[in-house]
This record gives sequence, C-alpha cells and structure tokens, in this order.
Amino acid sequence: MQTIIRRSLRAVDAEQGVITLIDQHASTPMKTLVRTRVSSGGQQAFHLEQSLQGWMLLHKKPLLINEPANDERFHGVAWEQSIRSLLCAPLLIKSELKGILTLYNKKGGQEFTAEDQRLLGIIAAQSAQVMENARLYKQLEQYNRTLEEKVQQRTAELQDKNLELTQTLQRLRETQNQLVTQEKLASLGQLTAGIAHEIKNPLNFVNNFAVLSIELAKELREEIVRRKAKNINEDDFTDIEEILSTLEQNAEKINHHGRRADGIVKSMMQHARGSSGQRELADINQLLEEAVNLTYHGLRANDASFNVTIEKKYDSTIGPLSVIPQDLSRVFLNLFNNACYAAHEKKKLHPAGFDPVISVFTKNLGSQIEIRIRDNGNGISQDIRDKIFNPFFTTKPAGQGAGLGLSISHEIIVQQHRGEIEVETEPGKFTEFVVRLPKDRSVQS
Ligand SMILES: Nc1ncnc2c1ncn2[C@@H]1O[C@H](COP(=O)(O)OP(=O)(O)OP(=O)(O)O)[C@@H](O)[C@H]1O
Ligand SMILES: [Mg+2]
Repeated sequence: MQTIIRRSLRAVDAEQGVITLIDQHASTPMKTLVRTRVSSGGQQAFHLEQSLQGWMLLHKKPLLINEPANDERFHGVAWEQSIRSLLCAPLLIKSELKGILTLYNKKGGQEFTAEDQRLLGIIAAQSAQVMENARLYKQLEQYNRTLEEKVQQRTAELQDKNLELTQTLQRLRETQNQLVTQEKLASLGQLTAGIAHEIKNPLNFVNNFAVLSIELAKELREEIVRRKAKNINEDDFTDIEEILSTLEQNAEKINHHGRRADGIVKSMMQHARGSSGQRELADINQLLEEAVNLTYHGLRANDASFNVTIEKKYDSTIGPLSVIPQDLSRVFLNLFNNACYAAHEKKKLHPAGFDPVISVFTKNLGSQIEIRIRDNGNGISQDIRDKIFNPFFTTKPAGQGAGLGLSISHEIIVQQHRGEIEVETEPGKFTEFVVRLPKDRSVQS
C-alpha cells in the first residue's frame, strides 16, 4: 500500500496521501454509517451523508475538492486546517468499495486539476486490482496450506482406521479359531461320554458277576472243607454241583459282556478308521437295494415294533459305476439307518395317524447319477443343520449313535468319489439326503 501511495503522490505532485480500507460487512447498519479502518489500523464510524467515506460509498468515482473548508463532507477530519486541496479515488473490486485513496495538497501551493483527478482514477483502478490479486494469492496460499493439513489429517485418520481394522480382523480370527477348537472339544467330549456310557454297562456286568463268582468259589471251598470232615455220601455233592453250575453261568455272563465291550470298542475303531477298499464296477441300484433290506431287517430283528413303508424308484439307465462298493454301502446303510430312526421316532410320538415312509430314488443326470434317500420323520432343525456332518455330532441317546455316520459318508462321497452330498429338510415334515456321483472316474485315483 505504501507503493501505491508513493506512486500516486508522484503522478499528481501531491504532498501527502492515505489509503482508507472500508469494511462494509461490519455489523453496524450500512445505510447511515460506514465503518473504516485507516491504514495505520483501528476502526472509525462515519456518517453516510457528511463524510468523504460516505460520499464514496454512494458515488464510487474520483472526487476533487479545492475548497475543503466550505465542504461539509470534509468536516471531522483531524488536520482539516492544514488542507488546501484534496483528491479522492475509490478502490473498487467488482464494483464494491474496498477502500479510498486520498491525496492532500498539490505541491507548490497549486490546486489539483481535472487531469489529476482522471489520473488518480486510473491509478486507483489498477491498484485495486493489484490489491485484490495479492489478497487472492494470500487466500490461495492459505487454502493450499489448509488443504495440505487436511490431507495429512485424513491420512493419519485413515491409518488409524486401518490399524483398528487390522486389529479387529486379528481378534475375529482368534475368536474363530477358539470357536472351532471349542466345537472340536465339545465333539470329543460327546464321544468320550458316549463311549464311557456304552462301555460302563457291560463292565458293570463283568464286575458284578466276577464278584459273585469269587464269593461262590469261596463258598465252594468252605463246603468242601466241611464235607471232608464229615462222612461223605453222594447227596452231599448236590449243593456243590449247584454252586458249580452258577459259577459256570457267571463265567459265561462275564465272557458275554466282556465280548460286548470289546465289540463296542472294535466298531468304534472301524467307524473311525476308514477303508482301503478296491475300485470296482458296481450297480448302484443293487447296492441301494441290499442296504435298504439289510437296514430294515436288522432293525426289525432288534425291535419288533419297528415298521416302515419303503418306496423305491430305481432308474435302470444309470449303468455300472466305478466305485468302492463296500464304502458306498456304508454310506447307504448309514443314510437308511438315520432315515428309519427318524421315521420310527416320530411314529413313537404319534402312534396313531402317522405312517412312517422311507423312499429311495435314483436318477440318471447324464454326467452324474443322483440318489435321494428320504424319510417323513421330524426333519433337522436349523440350529443343528450345520453340525450334522461334524465327526461325533449326534442327537441320539448314548449308545445308539456315535455321530460318525455322516462325517464318514461325507468323506467317502466327497473325497473318495469326488461326488456331492447335501441335505434338504423341513422341520416336522421330512429329511432328504441327496448324493450325486460323477459317472467317469468316480473314485479318486
Ligand atoms: N434322516 C434324518 N432325520 C433327522 N435327523 C437326522 C437324519 N440323519 C441325520 N440326522 C441328524 O444328524 C446327526 C448325525 O448323524 P450321523 O449319522 O452322523 O450320526 P448318528 O446317526 O447320530 O450316529 P452313527 O451314525 O455314528 O451311529 C444325527 O444324530 C441326527 O441328529
Ligand atoms: Mg447315523
């Protein structure tokens, strides 16, 4: 601003000059008052009609006053007495008054001329533009700085968020691992409980009859001692023979229940071991037929109350498939067993008005064959549907299921035979297991 003043003084030969900045956005009403800030700083208020600033605000054009003493716009200026003549020009930016450039007293005691007035008008217009450019530049710089700060702040925030996300992900993974471990432990717990319960029964027999046998042997020995002391005749041996035959029966029971315990352990091991059977061309319909009959008659033999209707629909076009027949039979036996169990359980709950039905369908799908084994039992509820293929998962009472059937079936169908096994079910209505086997190279080589 000093440069602008110096340049103007030189151009019109004036003695003194000042730039007054106008702040039109001050809170005082602008109709009557104008707030100004003189170049030395500070703020003043002026009357709109009776001040230079007010006049400029209204007219916005250069002004020449050669007799200030007679001009009411000129009152109130502190050093009024020493001013002989005066030139003013507005500093306009987009026709808004931003300031006033005022020059006092032409050198050599002369008056300012109309030419001086025109010249100052041009200088003021150029200066206003320069001032505006400087202001814009400063604003731009400030804006750039804030932008940079904002970018840095956002980057820092993003980095924080990123870290937070990584930590959350890590925590999620840990929780997931924990859950998996807990599930496995729970399955293992169920298995252990199942085995313990199942083995405990025969072992109770074994122990009880062993204790009884020991007591009987003791009695026998005492009896013999007694008989030796007495005269022995034939009849006296009848008791001993009785004790001996009880002893024999006990030993048989011990043997029977011992074998039962052994059988349970063996079947558990067999369930868990998996097979190493050979691949052969087999008729799937026939395997299914054998499995369904075996299951049905096996269950009937164990429980005379067991009865289900079996529906069969075999697709004769599926042809022989290269499979491991023993393993596939194991799958079918388990699926039929589960189906019969479910249907029979429902029948036990609703003895009248419910007919248990098991159905088996096969279908040629071209490159695959499809097997559907369905029962109209109570279905599988949503909360356990994800678990049924887990090893050791069972809802059957201890001793009736190890929870290995479906996990082994899954392994046989999916891993060994590169097929699929799925379940469709509606709680209270039905369960249908769908097995699909590929026709070519059914068995993994
Ligand atoms: N057809 C079905 N209807 C209803 N629930 C079923 C059916 N098939 C399987 N399930 C459910 O899935 C569970 C697991 O079945 P899976 O064959 O693996 O074991 P299990 O039959 O209990 O024991 P295992 O087969 O080892 O003797 C069953 O306990 C039962 O809750
Ligand atoms: Mg089963």
